[in-house]
Amino acid sequence: MIISGSASISLASSLSSHSKIPLGKTTHQNFPDGEFMVQTNFKGDHGIIIAATRSASDHLELLQLQDAIREAGATKITTILPYMGYARQDTVFEPGQPLSARAMARSIGTGTDRVIIVNPHKNTVCDYFGVPAIALDASPVLAQTLPTNLENPLFLAPDAGAISLAKSVRDAYGTGDTDYFEKDRISSTEVQISPSTVDVAGRDVICVDDIISTGTTTSKSARILHDRGAKTIFVTCIHALLVEDARKMLSDSGVGAIYTTDTIVTPETKVSIAPLLAKLL
Ligand code: R5P
Repeated sequence: MIISGSASISLASSLSSHSKIPLGKTTHQNFPDGEFMVQTNFKGDHGIIIAATRSASDHLELLQLQDAIREAGATKITTILPYMGYARQDTVFEPGQPLSARAMARSIGTGTDRVIIVNPHKNTVCDYFGVPAIALDASPVLAQTLPTNLENPLFLAPDAGAISLAKSVRDAYGTGDTDYFEKDRISSTEVQISPSTVDVAGRDVICVDDIISTGTTTSKSARILHDRGAKTIFVTCIHALLVEDARKMLSDSGVGAIYTTDTIVTPETKVSIAPLLAKLL
C-alpha cells in the first residue's frame, strides 16, 4: 500500500494509478500545544511512503508515518523522497555547523528498509541513511515539458553542478548544444555568475537546474542571456520551490516560461515523475 505525506498527495495518487498499488488514507490530529499525530489505514506487508520533506513538519510527519505503518504490521518499508529538504546543506562550511543532510538522512533511515530520492542535490547523500538508498534521475522527463519546435536550442546549466542535468535534458529532447556558467554563492540570496562565451543571439535557451528556490541563480543567468540577445529563455527544473518573489525575479530577467515536475506541485508543474517511479517500484 502507498501512503502519502501531506506534501505529496497528488504524486502519490498518480503513482498509485501508474503502479496499480492501492493508496491508503491518512488523517491528522492537531493538539493545542502545536503537536500533531498522523493515523493511517495501512494494511499489508510492504508500505511505500512517498513524502517530500520540504518543511520541518513534513519531516516529522514522515517519521510518524514510518512508525505508524511499522506498528500496523509492515515488514518492509520503502520511503520515497520526491524532494529531500536540507539536502543542499551537505558540507560543513564553518566550524560549529551541522552536516544537515546527514542528520536528516540518519533520522529517516531508522524507520525504513530502503530509500529512493528523486534528484537529491548530490547523490552522496545516499550514503547517510544507513539503509540502501538510491537516487532516481528524473531529468529526462523535463524534455517533455518543452515546446517541440525549438530550433538550434542551447541547454544551459547556471552552474557547473547542473551540467549533467542539462546534458540529460538535451539528450532526451534529441537536439541542441549544452553549456554552463560558473557560479559563486555569496549568501543564500546572492550569487555571482561568470558566464561562458557561448553565442546565444537569436537562439532558444533552456536553463536547466535541479532546484529553483529564490530564483537568484537562474534569474542572474537569464539576465545575461537576455542582454546577449537570446530569442526565448525557458527554465526547467526538477524541484520548483519558487520562494518569495522568485517568479517575479525570473520574469523580470527575461524568462519566458518555467516548467517543472510534480516532486513539488506548483502552477508551473507540467510533467509527472509517477511513471518513472512506478517503473522503479
Ligand atoms: C545549488 O547549487 C542548486 O543547484 C540551485 O542552483 C540552487 O539551489 C538555486 O537556488 P536559488 O534559486 O535560491 O538561487
